[in-house]
Amino acid sequence: MDQSQTQPRVTLVGAGPGSKDLITIRGLKALQSANVILYDALVDIDLLKEAAQGIQKIYVGKRFGKHHTSQEDINELLVTSAFAHGHVVRLKGGDPFVFGRASEEIEHLESFGIPVTVVPGVTSAIAVPESQGIPLTKRDVSSSFWVITATKKNGSFSDDLIHAAKSSATIVILMGVRKIKEISVKIKEYRGGLMPIAFIQNGTMHDETCQVATLNTIETILESVDNTKPGIIVIGNVVADHPSFFEEEVQRVLSSQL
Ligand SMILES: C[S@@+](CC[C@H](N)C(=O)[O-])C[C@H]1O[C@@H](n2cnc3c(N)ncnc32)[C@H](O)[C@@H]1O
Repeated sequence: MDQSQTQPRVTLVGAGPGSKDLITIRGLKALQSANVILYDALVDIDLLKEAAQGIQKIYVGKRFGKHHTSQEDINELLVTSAFAHGHVVRLKGGDPFVFGRASEEIEHLESFGIPVTVVPGVTSAIAVPESQGIPLTKRDVSSSFWVITATKKNGSFSDDLIHAAKSSATIVILMGVRKIKEISVKIKEYRGGLMPIAFIQNGTMHDETCQVATLNTIETILESVDNTKPGIIVIGNVVADHPSFFEEEVQRVLSSQL
């Protein structure tokens, strides 16, 4: 191993939204040169096959219902792994800087003098709606979008959710699976019941699911929500671009008239 491989350093790599072939070429190269990999729950396991055989690949996921590694433990593990093995790749779902707690990891590593490089990733916030044919902006329909998490640490709605609801922008909500009903009710107060909504789980993966409705007909989505899978909520008129939106709404209107 040459000396540059044993010098402690960390590369934060955005793995992309799910499907393994949505990582960037730069991210893949970093992965292939890693001596240790620390990876998230939202990373496609198949991606790890691209790394050298025999190196440590440590799961540090935090997903609901699965083993949970605290952020403090991850920070610590990054430091000890870099000093022990040289190049550590911290593989994170989507883009490291979108709700990824990357800044905390960088600050911690730099406080030990360990250099950090960041490789951007394709964020699920844009790619997951896109994989369902839902654009976040569209001429004459939506000229901006908000990417938000619905709730604060204490579970209450964030002020940003209300600000976004009051705007005319497309709203993309991450980490909202378990609150989809409450979120819809809140946003309906500002946007009205005819506003389209999409809910996509395991986006870009082989078992991706997508449901569309309006804020009035959200109940039809709720029964198939799976709390164990990552999901993205999209609210805005752009959702009407989804191929099944009008068909499903027509079916609902017809069945409500029977
Ligand atoms: C902690 S945030 C990290 C986001 C990530 N850094 C990114 O840029 O995509 C995790 C949330 O992203 C969303 N998410 C990530 N991957 C997803 C996927 N493949 N399908 C649906 N939602 C996904 C979910 O809302 C999940 O709870």
